[in-house]
Amino acid sequence: MSPLPPNPGDLAVDCVRTLAPYVPGKPIEELQRELGLSDIIKLASNENPFGPSPRALAAMQKALTDTWLYPDGSGHELKRKLAAKLGVDTNQITLGNGSNDLLVLLAGAFLMPGLEAVYSQYAFAVYPIAIQATGATAVVVPANPPTAPMPLGHDLAAMARAITPRTRVVFVANPNNPTGTWVPAAELRKFIAAMPPHVLVALDEAYFEYTGGLDLQDGIEWLKDFPNLVVFRTFSKAYGLAGVRVGYAVSHPGVADMLNRVRQAFNVSVVGLAGASAALDDPEHVAAAVKVAVAERARVTARLEKTGTRVFPSAGNFLMLHAGANARARYEALLRQGVIVRPVGNYQLPEHLRVTLGTVDQNDRFLAAWQAC
Ligand SMILES: Cc1ncc(COP(=O)(O)O)c(C=O)c1O
Repeated sequence: MSPLPPNPGDLAVDCVRTLAPYVPGKPIEELQRELGLSDIIKLASNENPFGPSPRALAAMQKALTDTWLYPDGSGHELKRKLAAKLGVDTNQITLGNGSNDLLVLLAGAFLMPGLEAVYSQYAFAVYPIAIQATGATAVVVPANPPTAPMPLGHDLAAMARAITPRTRVVFVANPNNPTGTWVPAAELRKFIAAMPPHVLVALDEAYFEYTGGLDLQDGIEWLKDFPNLVVFRTFSKAYGLAGVRVGYAVSHPGVADMLNRVRQAFNVSVVGLAGASAALDDPEHVAAAVKVAVAERARVTARLEKTGTRVFPSAGNFLMLHAGANARARYEALLRQGVIVRPVGNYQLPEHLRVTLGTVDQNDRFLAAWQAC
């Protein structure tokens, strides 16, 4: 028998061993430990600074007494409410441990070695991980040039040209993270209509609620026309529930059936189900948080541009900035001032930073710190 390799991790399948891991935003506690700071703001993971609705909080507190029980694996109550709100059938909804879970499930159910999945350069980092882990081929399509009206955004025409008979999934983030960029609704609709029937369109609408009058789609309205469309949404952003991990996919029932086959039976927790269900009863809370984010998107952009910082167009609750060749040093200078933003070097954008829109006070603090570094 040959000896064990020194690192038994090397026994992993090739497509996993060569994966670049996801790089999350720096947690507040880590910066506290590293620099001994106490007054820290985190604008690094596109969370909602206003947190969940008081109704969701109360429901989650109540649910704590039930945490010795497994959750309802069918998520009946949450699906019932979502179906009513979205005008779809419950059999079109798949619940996930965040929408990240569902992106991975889609890849697992529809991809394998020999098949291809297409996405744009600078698209959300989970797509390459989800694709590569299946052994399928990731086809990365160059993004728009920095001088385009939607700089570094998805080039849908080029993505359409990248489709082959082996393509099974095309990922579109609209808007995209980390760039914030988007494609107009009519252009996207045309793109989906032109997809051959063997290709699923995975339309990631994690920032759907932040549209704020911009020209973006409601993908769920399109499901009746496009059986190969799968729309992903989340409670992590506008609903302020990132920590309990609840997302959902809406699709043709046949696709939902497949996602449910590979889903862990209890992938959404008792607390997550209770919080998300109750959050749906408080749309005013979500609307108030979104209103601040949309207003701050314009205000912070204008303030940064006034002092010469290039800001990318954004339809999300965050902005991507061109920070220059010393982006890393500026990131570290912000950390020393207790402000955590997100470097995006892992996206091959070493000169850029992404900042989440916080409360007005938090954004003012970021702007002051940015001027000082
Ligand atoms: C574009 C996009 N899709 C999906 C997600 C995943 O979010 P979650 O798993 O919290 O639902 C994120 C999170 O940042 C995102 O930016």
